[in-house]
Parts: sequence; structure tokens; C-alpha cells
Amino acid sequence: MCGIVGYIGYEQAAPFLLKGLEKLQYRGYDSAGVCTNDDGKLVVQKEKGKLDELKNVTDDGKNIKGTVGIGHTRWATHGKPSEINAHPHLSESGSFAVVHNGIIENYMPLKQFLTEKGMSFRSMTDTEVVVQLLEYYYEGDLLGTVLKVAAMLEGSYALAIMYKGNADEIIAVRKGSPLVIGIGKEENYLASDIPAILEKTRNIYRLENGEVAVIRRDSVQIMDYDRNPVQKSIERINWDIHAAQKDGYEHFMLKEIFEQPKAVRDTVETRIKNGRVVLEEVTLTPEQIRQFQKINIVACGSAYHVGVVAKYIFERILRKPVEVDVASEFKYRDPIIDSKTLTVVISQSGETADTKEAMLEAKRHGSHTIAIVNVVGSAIACEADDVIYTLAGPEIAVATTKAYSAQLAVIYMMAVCFGDILGTISETDYQTYVTELLALPDKIQSILAQSESLKNIASKMFACKDAFFIGRNIDYALSLEGSLKLKEISYIHSEAYAAGELKHGTISLIEEGTLVIALVTYGNLFDKIASNIKEVQTRGAYVLGIGSEEHPELRNITQSSFLIPKTCNMMLPSLAVIPMQLLAYYMAKFKGCDIDTPRNLAKSVTVE
Ligand code: BG6
Repeated sequence: MCGIVGYIGYEQAAPFLLKGLEKLQYRGYDSAGVCTNDDGKLVVQKEKGKLDELKNVTDDGKNIKGTVGIGHTRWATHGKPSEINAHPHLSESGSFAVVHNGIIENYMPLKQFLTEKGMSFRSMTDTEVVVQLLEYYYEGDLLGTVLKVAAMLEGSYALAIMYKGNADEIIAVRKGSPLVIGIGKEENYLASDIPAILEKTRNIYRLENGEVAVIRRDSVQIMDYDRNPVQKSIERINWDIHAAQKDGYEHFMLKEIFEQPKAVRDTVETRIKNGRVVLEEVTLTPEQIRQFQKINIVACGSAYHVGVVAKYIFERILRKPVEVDVASEFKYRDPIIDSKTLTVVISQSGETADTKEAMLEAKRHGSHTIAIVNVVGSAIACEADDVIYTLAGPEIAVATTKAYSAQLAVIYMMAVCFGDILGTISETDYQTYVTELLALPDKIQSILAQSESLKNIASKMFACKDAFFIGRNIDYALSLEGSLKLKEISYIHSEAYAAGELKHGTISLIEEGTLVIALVTYGNLFDKIASNIKEVQTRGAYVLGIGSEEHPELRNITQSSFLIPKTCNMMLPSLAVIPMQLLAYYMAKFKGCDIDTPRNLAKSVTVE
């Protein structure tokens, strides 16, 4: 997520802008910039890298004049991290400046239109289209031009706009990405998030989707795109700065668990056009895809668990053999791969050394590599032949949640897209998959709405010493992630086991009161797993069943249960992982663990 700040008052703007951006650094970024109106000239200073670069070259903002300005920290989605792609963006003549948080989904046709009108672009960003549209349409009515351009934009965006000929206004537009306005004394502020302005004021307006604000030193006018005034009451913020960075959630992990509907929606919706899954990032031709004889998947940790889920999905839908490797093992097992092998590399950070080394090993054997990565411009993203970005936004908590869910969504889209090319899925199934993909965010949301029931279940379980996660087929793949989540943040020993395998040894560990979490969402094997549940219960286990609404009878055969909404088999993991994330979170919370930064763990291990 990018960060936006704005200031209009009688003090020098730049020092405040930089301080505000500092408070938004936790959102993750790769470049930063500020723009002020210095006596009718828009002055921009922007740098790739950390905010310190910008503070050094501007002497903490002291050498940038102007009492009205906007600032930005960029989390790259379109166009790699660079000074050129950093915000603020100026229009061709330097008359307009814009900072943006979000995704302009229709920026390509708009860019094409402007290029045909003779306008030239400097950056690779979607944002530059906005500032050029303002220039193209401006005929003297600043607000009218902003409203006209805003109505042309598709996607999610928060914008802050300045015009060089008007040093008395900043115009803010919100659709999808957050924006708050801080109310000061003879000065007002704008930010993506409350922490940026908390030192100045605790009185804010929250802009809602489809609202535009004209911010002056002594007034704030809010309206809709049709200029209908919107009445807002001032909201008083009583949080401290740390609570504000988590948007009121107690931990970043909980905030990110609740950001999953948006992470999945942003990752999916930009890749479904007219009912078809379009993976523009994949450079392979249909013929090349048809030539692959095998798929290899390499990753670590939770990303590896996505790979195990992917194996079940790809083999079932693409009818190609799939091998999944823990990246640190792959390179050293003399893998049998060649140009007929497709290698899928999964990594949130894009910097995990084991995964990068495994990818390079695959490339050395002539395998085409497709990376699924969350950080634009990261090492793995740069080295892979193709990269499909998850648009989950920066993930701060060490234990991944929203990136895992976004990675699953990419796997589903690959299965549908490649299955269509290979002719292994019917048009009916294709439509079902697309419908279910688009419905996923709301279904995830419906589970999040039941978080209290997971908290209640966790309150009965957090004192356990061991936990077993069991499942069959895709539920087994999912149990791996449930087990790791619990271990990572609660330090409770946990194992994931193929339910059918338990009786061949490990069931010896089951005794009175042992906690067993049975994943029972894959309906085709319900009776099989039901007998596995019976097996452990007869030895004293306490079983929590996580199943589907399609089999409510689960309630009758387990001591407690949680049912997820119906969806197609392929997408069950995206729903069933949510209760397991919440269970792990609340068990760790009841134990008083350090949830966002668990002992011994790193968000990304950049050494082998
Ligand atoms: C581990 C993290 O260090 O690396 C896990 O603790 C993560 O949460 C794993 O899944 C892989 O990281 P990445 O960035 O390659 O997905």
C-alpha cells in the first residue's frame, strides 16, 4: 500500500510532509517524494529507496519552499521501484501534481488515448495517466476537471491533486483506497492513514468511496462526483500512534487477516476481463504451455504449503505430473528437469535465498520459471522468466496470512487459464471457477464476521501442549498451513498429518485430551475422514472439525466444529485457512505471545 500525506497552511509544508511519510513507513515502500507549490511553481523532489535519502537531499524538507504540498511513499504495483516511477507525478507542462494509492485498472486505454493526442509519458506507472488527463481536460475549472477525470477512472484509488495556479487548494479523491483529512487551526492535513497526522490533530474526516474534498487552510468542502455536498461529522481519534498504525487492530497479523478479502479481490479482479482469466504477465505461448510434460513447484514455509495445495489442483485440472519441493532440498537432490518442465516459484518477499537458489537451479536446467511474488522488483521477481504479482500489499506480520491467500488465488487463475489452453476444463467448469473466484472475497468476509466464535474455541484450547492437524487430499495440504500458523505464533508443538496415515504410527501419540483439528472440507472423502476422526476420538482426542456447510453432519461427530461456506473443491483452502489463522492468532493471544514478531523467526530469510 502506498502512503499519501498533504498539508495546506501558513507553515513550510515539506518538513511536515516528510514527518508524515515517516509515520507511514510501516506500510512498506520502495521510494518516496514530495511536491510543494513554491510561488506558483510545482517543485518535486523524489528518491528511490528509503525516506532518509529524501530527508538528506532536502535537509529534512527545510530547503523546499511552499506552504501547500503533497507527499508519497510508493509500494510498487505497476513499474519497478525507481526515481522516475516514484510519486508525485507532474503533468507534461508541470501544471499538475498527483500522488496516488491504489490501482487504475483502465490506465492502458487511457494512456493510449492520450498518446494518440500527442501527450508523452515519462514513467511506467498507472498514476501518470491521471495527471496527464487533468492537463488534457483543464480549461480553468480545477474542481470540474478533477470530477471529470475521476469519473473516467476504473479501479481503486486515493488521489491528492495540486494545480500550480492555485496555491490555496488541495483536492482529494477517494474510491477504494483510504484517505483521511485532519482538521487543524488555519491549516489542514491529508493522509492515507491516521498515524501521519496524529501529532498535529486528533480531529479527522474520513472520506468514503466516491467522495471528493476541496481542502483549504480554513475550510474543507466534501462532495460526491456530482458536486452534491456531503455532510460529515468530525471523528475524534483517541488511539496512540502504534494503535493507529494497526488501524485499531491489536496486531498487524490480525489486521492482515482481515485485509484478506481486499488482497484476494485486488489480486483477482485486475486479471478477470469479460469473464476470462487473463494472465498478461505469462509470456509463454499456448503451444509452449502444451509442450510442458511436468510442473515443478519450489518454495519455503507457508509459500511451500501453497505449492502443496497447487499440486492437488494442477494434477486434477491440468492432468500434468506435479512435484513440489521445499526449496532448500530441491537444489541438492539432483532434480530431473529440462526445458519441458515448467517451474513455479512462490515467495511473498521475493528475497528468500533458498527459493531464489532453487529457481536459479531450475533455470540452469533450461526450465521456464514463473514466480508468484508480492514485492515488486524483488530478487526473485527480477530473475524469473515471468512474474505474477500478488496484490496483497505489504505484509508486516512475520506469519503470513493475506499473501498466502493471494498466492492461492493466483494458483487458481493459473489452473483455469492453463486448463483452458490444454483443453482439460469444460466451458461450464471455466465459468464456475470464474464465478467462484469473484465470490471468494465476500465468502472470506463472511468467515471473518464469525471471528468471535473462533476466539471462543481458542479460549478452550490455548493451554494444550500438542496439536494435530489432520486431513485428506486437499485438506491434508491445507493442514500443513494450519499447523505452521499455530507453531509459528503460539509456540505450541503441532503436526500436520495425512489422516489416512495416522494409524500407521503417529496415532500412538494420541491420548486423553489430545487436541486434533480435522480438516473435513473436501466432501468426496467425508466418510473416510469421519472414520479417522472416530479413530482418534476412541483414544481420547478432543476434535475440532473444520468442514463445509455441505456436510453439516460434521457437527454431530466432533466435540466442536466450524463450517465454511460452499465453494468449488479447488477453492476450499482459501476459506478453510481463515478459521485456522484466527484459531492460531487467538490461541497465541491467550498465551500472551509476541504475535507479530515471534521468537527465532524472520519475515524473510535471505541466507541459505
Ligand atoms: C519464512 C517466514 O522465513 O519464510 C514464512 O517466516 C514464509 O512466513 C517463508 O512463508 C517463505 O518466505 P517467502 O517470502 O519466500 O514467502
